[in-house]
Amino acid sequence: MSPLNDPIAATTGRWWEHAVVYQVYPRSFADGDGDGVGDLVGITDRLPYLRDLGVDAVWLSPFYRSPQHDHGYDVADYHDVDPLFGELADADAMLARAHELGLKMIVDLVPNHTSDEHRWFQAALAAGPGSPERARYLFREGRGPGGDEPPNNWASVFGGAAWTRVEEADGTPGQWYLHLFDSTQPDLDWRNPEVGDMFVEVLRFWLDRGVDGFRVDVAHGLVKEESLRDQVLAEGEVPDSESVNSAATASMVERTLRDEPMWDQPEVHDVYRRWHEVLADYDGDRMTVAEAWTQTPDSMADFVRPDEMSQAFNFAFLLAPWDASAFAEVVTGSMDAVGRVGALPTWVLSNHDVVRHVTRYGGGALGLDRARAATLAMLALPGSAYVYQGEELGLEQVDVAPEHRQDPSWFRTGEVGRDGCRVPVPWSGAAPPYGFGPADGQPWLPQPDDWAGLTVEAQLGDPGSTLTFYQAALAARREHARDLPDAVEAGADGDVLRVRRGDLLVVLNCGDTAVDLPAGEVLVSSGPLDGVLPPATTAWLRV
Ligand code: NOJ
Repeated sequence: MSPLNDPIAATTGRWWEHAVVYQVYPRSFADGDGDGVGDLVGITDRLPYLRDLGVDAVWLSPFYRSPQHDHGYDVADYHDVDPLFGELADADAMLARAHELGLKMIVDLVPNHTSDEHRWFQAALAAGPGSPERARYLFREGRGPGGDEPPNNWASVFGGAAWTRVEEADGTPGQWYLHLFDSTQPDLDWRNPEVGDMFVEVLRFWLDRGVDGFRVDVAHGLVKEESLRDQVLAEGEVPDSESVNSAATASMVERTLRDEPMWDQPEVHDVYRRWHEVLADYDGDRMTVAEAWTQTPDSMADFVRPDEMSQAFNFAFLLAPWDASAFAEVVTGSMDAVGRVGALPTWVLSNHDVVRHVTRYGGGALGLDRARAATLAMLALPGSAYVYQGEELGLEQVDVAPEHRQDPSWFRTGEVGRDGCRVPVPWSGAAPPYGFGPADGQPWLPQPDDWAGLTVEAQLGDPGSTLTFYQAALAARREHARDLPDAVEAGADGDVLRVRRGDLLVVLNCGDTAVDLPAGEVLVSSGPLDGVLPPATTAWLRV
């Protein structure tokens, strides 16, 4: 059932609260025009597949005009579609088709930085130091003799310094500008009111076209501590803006907090209060979801206070080790944190920035069993769940050969980067591009030779396939979980995670040996049960 014909969502609004949202990475979903890169026409053609899969909404990574240095997270024009993906009329047609099918459509908004090809940044370069044009970004003089050193010690999330020096009009080395990501992604100065006004225009532009919501990129990063002071580093700690991303949640409560003057400043919440008002002007309960890698569950919850955003990604589940106690702690901790502000959590196991969960859980048959088990446990939880294209096919992270890698972090650090989770989706056939598009041969990132058995065509209707499992799991969620009370009790019984929600008991066996199944009616499972709960398996029971 889609949210549009779901009686509960229709009466309460807040269609997003328990929605399953499918993330489309446009370059890699479906190629309509045969240039080897996915596009909006390709997505539109495949929307019925998503309806049949059983998701409620689609979140699209950026498709705006962009030089594609970070594959669209470097936006040169927020009001236009990049020719690689189509044109505005294609976006309109995609939205209309999605709505016709009962799917909501969430688009990505990238407000922390623009592309260096954005007209504002080009004007800032031309206008020179002290100009109002430069004041839209974070230009500063360098330190040390001749201003040769960056203004502070901050590091880019993609490696190296977070500052790049420009050459002034007279050819002399000039000011430095801040970029928390690639040097082609200059950070905006959100303390400048012009910036906030510009983004309200952008919101309205897409709201007027009918989008149902926005996924807000780097939502915790927009406002920096005003002094732009050095980050205070603990003894032996290296500058690393990505600390939160890599900090596994061994414990959600005992983590030592880092000094992070670039992230999660209190003033950032003013931005979302203003956006809340903007969205409230529109019908249809438009929503926002924050990508906020905050240091604690409580600071994540601040983004979803009643007058701010609708949801925040909760990365704790994704970061948790394969351990029943850790999962239980994440479930309880996440529920408690957002419960404090009257919100519901979100859950996610994979996206375009992280190693696919089959691979994180060990890869191969075991990785797949664990991934299916974790997914089924996630889908029972209150709140909204996000799934990433290809996970319903059980895709693994691909080892992309160095000559094909495109992630800016690969170029800045020489480390593998994120290309391996962005390889185009296999739809049909026995060889690349597996129906990804009409052209012969490999798409923009090469697909493995052994994906013939993983295509949608190969898996549809096969009772043991991961695709069939996802269809069943999403149907079970609608039928048995979505409308249950939101309170849950989560705990670990040895190696078994037990989550109780209303009359639903979810058991996930994280151990190496089979355990007894609790009494109750089995509603769905992530693999065969044979009267027990095998390792790396989840079952839902009505008790
Ligand atoms: C987070 C996005 O998910 C990622 O793909 C991107 O590289 C950075 N933000 C910078 O925009």
